[in-house]
Amino acid sequence: MARILVFDSGIGGLSVAACIHQRLADVELVYVADNAGFPYGDQPEPVVLGRCRSLIAEALREFSCDLIVVACNTASTIVLPDLRAMTDVPVVGVVPAIKPAAACSVNRRIGVLATPATIRRPYLDNLIREFANDCQVTRVGHPQLVHWIEGSVSGNDLPGQALSDALQPFRESAVDTVVLGCTHYPLIQRQLARCLPDVRFWVDSGDAIARRAEWLLEQQGSLAATADGPEHPVRAILFSGAVPEGLAAYMTGLGLAPGDIRGHWPGVGGATATASA
Ligand code: DGL
Repeated sequence: MARILVFDSGIGGLSVAACIHQRLADVELVYVADNAGFPYGDQPEPVVLGRCRSLIAEALREFSCDLIVVACNTASTIVLPDLRAMTDVPVVGVVPAIKPAAACSVNRRIGVLATPATIRRPYLDNLIREFANDCQVTRVGHPQLVHWIEGSVSGNDLPGQALSDALQPFRESAVDTVVLGCTHYPLIQRQLARCLPDVRFWVDSGDAIARRAEWLLEQQGSLAATADGPEHPVRAILFSGAVPEGLAAYMTGLGLAPGDIRGHWPGVGGATATASA
């Protein structure tokens, strides 16, 4: 059975894992969340690089994987070349879906919602220049949104008014398309859509990554239909910090029932602590 390692600073990559599982139900997923280093947008780049390298190397020691998906926009801009040098396992990263958004937008007004770190990185300017230079692009970099979404796993309500206020620049510029430039955001797409009922297209990178993963696994010959599929779509979910309360129910709601759930992974000297959630 093919196995994909999905990596993020927190639970955001679960939006990507859900797209992969919908497309590739016979593939087993292993998920690593570096929530002890969360949010990556607040960390210096060498720190993000070091953390990703060591956690992914540790995960590959325990689980043989056919593909690595860095399901984090912030990390993808920093770590892909190093990871590709570190391992022979193919690595896929994620970038804000500017190109598909430009293909959708009818009024040529696009909003980009991302973390402040992603909003200020030059690669976003390059994507806009390359794929959306005939569009008016409004950017919103929100420092708290990823925290609110992490909290929602444990049942904390999103602050509705603050969320709506944060999206006001998109209303003012009458965007018809919004790019969700952080993998956490598709997890609250319904709430976002309620705040911005005039937006026609919500675009993220999850499906594109799932298609890319399918293509790469096919090329390797590691994609084979199995009689029963994996016992759990997510064989193991490994947190470098504490396991969020309510995680198992949250994942089950996304169609990603987890097998093994571990916190404070890999722990001192590689020891692991198992948590029930
Ligand atoms: N899910 C990450 C991303 O897509 C969260 C960002 C962060 O940790 O700062 O960028």
